[in-house]
Amino acid sequence: MANEQDLMERIVALAKRRGFIYPSSEIYGGINGFWDYGPLGVELKRNLKDAWWQDVVRCPPPGPDGKPLQMVGLDCSIIMNPKVWEASGHVVNFNDPRVDCKQCKARFRADKVFTVIAREGENILLSVGVEADHEDPAKAVALAAANAKARRRLEEHADRLVWTVVRADRAGQGVAALCPLDGGPLTDARKFNMMFKSHAGAMEDSASLVYLRPETAQGIFANYKNVLDTTRIKVPFGIAQIGKAFRNEINPRNFTFRSREFEQMEIEFFCHPSQADPWYAWWRDARYKWYVDHGLKSSKLRLRDHAKEELAHYARACADVEYEFPFGISELEGIANRTDFDLSQHQKFSGRDMTYFDDETKERFIPHVIEPSGGIDRAALAFLCEAYCEDEAPDENGAMQKRTVLRFHPRLAPVKAAIFPLVKKDGMPEKALEIYTALRPHMTAFYDEKGAVGRRYRRQDEAGTPFCITVDGQTREDGTVTIRDRDSMKQERIATDAQTLLGCLQDRLRR
Ligand code: GAP
Repeated sequence: MANEQDLMERIVALAKRRGFIYPSSEIYGGINGFWDYGPLGVELKRNLKDAWWQDVVRCPPPGPDGKPLQMVGLDCSIIMNPKVWEASGHVVNFNDPRVDCKQCKARFRADKVFTVIAREGENILLSVGVEADHEDPAKAVALAAANAKARRRLEEHADRLVWTVVRADRAGQGVAALCPLDGGPLTDARKFNMMFKSHAGAMEDSASLVYLRPETAQGIFANYKNVLDTTRIKVPFGIAQIGKAFRNEINPRNFTFRSREFEQMEIEFFCHPSQADPWYAWWRDARYKWYVDHGLKSSKLRLRDHAKEELAHYARACADVEYEFPFGISELEGIANRTDFDLSQHQKFSGRDMTYFDDETKERFIPHVIEPSGGIDRAALAFLCEAYCEDEAPDENGAMQKRTVLRFHPRLAPVKAAIFPLVKKDGMPEKALEIYTALRPHMTAFYDEKGAVGRRYRRQDEAGTPFCITVDGQTREDGTVTIRDRDSMKQERIATDAQTLLGCLQDRLRR
């Protein structure tokens, strides 16, 4: 646990130091739950969004029948008519249970706080509140025992102990919910609606109340008829959207993992009710594979089917793509069979007909919807955690030095190629700048002539740049440069003419 915490701290520090992610408005002390993406972070996120858009909208894999998938995109407004959120159920149901500490006034999500009690007979050896991301008694117990003094006591009595773990919103009946910070008593759980509110127009009254969207999905449902009427698309088809979403999370935590402002990448796939099960299975597998294909290859990725009791009342099936972050296993994306719930609700609340008429079968029906819904910030964080690696590399004198490297998939790497002159003389900077200028229209490239070349390699390894090209003394003699691979650190010589160099890089980036 300590190692994982330490690892997360090193990843957060690297993200700040190298310009991936900064705390929002840091010069004023920051603001909890909000983050800014720096020069490298913004490229990582853009690459992720481009890859997703390319792979689900412009060129998705063939469907289960081998035919091309029909997909289109949308970009809806963040603020919509508030009736959208009445119809979707968010006004009434988008609540998290909240508890407050009566002593220190800290506020927590009740379903993330546990009271852990260890008894030896009648004797209570430990009674503490802990925050854990999962309803996982083992984790809560481990957290409770993390304190060295408590651990020693518990280890000595281990075989005789009886453990009780109770979630804060299920406390009572002899177990008091305790604050994870100061052990004070917690209030009963209260409902807390997570939608951010604002007002549209000059009057701040209930008639002007609006919400910042807590998901992009409802914009798609609200436009489903527009898309049908203005394109020649036919069921089955999907609509995709990338955009900001806002949730007033009670306890933003784990870096960008749970933020109050974040981006989603969502698909609503409309199909005939009888085809919903096979489409659900297809999307579930396709989305899992997408993460694997982009580098989440390790045993840290998993696809978890929800048990029946976990399903929302309208969902027929749901699976989560989960990743084992240093702070625990958590959701990256959910794939749900939402039946006809959303379209039926919008039909009811708007009075508009949401049925689809099939010209061929002459059947009219409300399509069922499969929804793969992912978070871009969570995906970026998972790719960052997966890419983070510490190994050793030789310095200029051949001595092995610790190296931090981000082994991003080339498609996601913020910078694809860095170009260096070995030294700042003998025409090397001029040649290196010429190569840099030739590559820039085709890929994100970076030019650097300062400091020892070994240090420049190291800086690029830390930024996740897959290839470094160096102009050296031999370049003038035979027109070749070295190309160094970030992961193997091997160098090869290749010709400097723009065609060869570009072709060679593009070929390697595709691998
Ligand atoms: N339309 C369905 C929907 O919004 P969700 O599970 O609430 O489902 C989808 O959210 C995805 O959005 C999650 O899998 C996660 O990746 C991302 N997400 C949700 N809340 C988030 C938060 N507070 N911070 C960052 N990402 C979040």
